[in-house]
Amino acid sequence: MPNVVVVGAQWGDEGKGKVVDVLSPKMAAVVRFQGGNNAGHTLKVDGETLILHLLPSGILHPTSTNVIGNGVVLDPRVLLAEIDALRARGREVRPGHLVVSPHAHVIMPYHTRLDAMREQHLGRAKIGTTGRGIGPAYEDKAGRRGIWVVDLLDPARLRERLEATLPEKNRMIVDWYGGEALDPAAVLAEYAAYGERIAPYVADAVHLLHTIAKGGGGILFEGAQGTFLDVDHGTYPYVTSSNTVAGAACAGSGVGPTLIDEVVGIVKAYTTRVGAGPFPTEAHGAVGERLRTVGAEFGATTGRPRRCGWFDAALVRHAARVNGLTRLALTKLDVLSGLDSIPVCVGYEGTEAFPGSLEGVTPIYEDLPGWADDLRECRSVDTLPRNCRAYVHRLEELIGLPIDLVSVGPGRHETILRGDLFRP
Ligand code: GDP
Ligand code: IMO
Ligand code: MG
Repeated sequence: MPNVVVVGAQWGDEGKGKVVDVLSPKMAAVVRFQGGNNAGHTLKVDGETLILHLLPSGILHPTSTNVIGNGVVLDPRVLLAEIDALRARGREVRPGHLVVSPHAHVIMPYHTRLDAMREQHLGRAKIGTTGRGIGPAYEDKAGRRGIWVVDLLDPARLRERLEATLPEKNRMIVDWYGGEALDPAAVLAEYAAYGERIAPYVADAVHLLHTIAKGGGGILFEGAQGTFLDVDHGTYPYVTSSNTVAGAACAGSGVGPTLIDEVVGIVKAYTTRVGAGPFPTEAHGAVGERLRTVGAEFGATTGRPRRCGWFDAALVRHAARVNGLTRLALTKLDVLSGLDSIPVCVGYEGTEAFPGSLEGVTPIYEDLPGWADDLRECRSVDTLPRNCRAYVHRLEELIGLPIDLVSVGPGRHETILRGDLFRP
């Protein structure tokens, strides 16, 4: 099997969880390589809905190894709660079925606290983060003050790392933000206990992935967030704090670029964004509200209403370049049924090139004819209404890539598989 990176090509929530769930039975391993529990990946299987924040979306397939790579920031409370929630549903997460890199960085309680305090302090200028401590955890990683997962397994080492970090954090929390200091002994005891529970899952993820790659089993790299939330390539500062583009799959897992065979971009048939920042094709008023209602566009992590708008081909063309996309998966096409015509952004006024900032750009729209029929029973492109087929074809043309998977509903089987990569 090829090694495949799957990334969001818009602002997140493109349906990555569903696509990874569809692909993962063919793959030996599924790897999360960046982000943390700011992600919310939804899987709908046999009428059951499961939202994963940290566990890779291959976890429902008993044969795949699910890896949390070194590039992830891991909140141990969230990981253990997810494992417990699956157990309560009768699905045991065994060591080996889940492998956690010793070098993933830990989201500590001061990270979540500082995330919330910073946002509050910013007032109207806030980013609209998920409040999960992601930014502060990546700051500490880059600032060489971070705590590794492996540090949780050794209380003496954890104490040392906390002694180096916590006094400064407490000064910031108390003196700058007026909050309450964290008690070092309590933090040490709580996090050492998490370490004990996580220990059986911790193993050399790099070695494991290379063994799998050598055996040709196929590795699926599951991106979180989306291209325009990338800290370098996104709509900075309204971004997350990690690289979300396909290149990050290598640094965040320890697998080199020469082992990557395919890069799949996931796109919604329209566009959504949660949190602040520019969004050229945003549809305000009743039109945006219709997309939000029909598409059930509420955040899988925070429950916030997602901002909704039209498909932006200029944006996705840029995503194709910075990720090196080889093909696309198109989701939520069913949500567009019932519209008379559907605007698609084909470029921005006054510029051929992708602009350095999306603030204030004006989209150029092309109106494509809509269709009335419900798509959820369609299982081949031939059975899609004619205008719907034309819509899919026009997106392929505008982006210059094949759409090899079309999703027509949230369920695992509500899917049209086209290219060989996706077919069982
Ligand atoms: P992710 O973060 O990229 O994994 O996406 P989310 O899970 O946050 O958001 C996607 C939402 O759309 C979830 O509620 C999915 O169940 C749902 N979904 C995925 N594909 C489809 C589709 O083709 N049609 C519809 N109607 N819903 C879908
Ligand atoms: P998935 O993987 C959509 C957004 C937040 C905010 C910005 C920074 O489900 O697609 P952060 O908490 O990361 O510091 O927030 O990024 N954001 C997401 N938006 N989907 C996500 O993940 C997101 N993860 C973060 O709303 O605007
Ligand atoms: Mg999501």
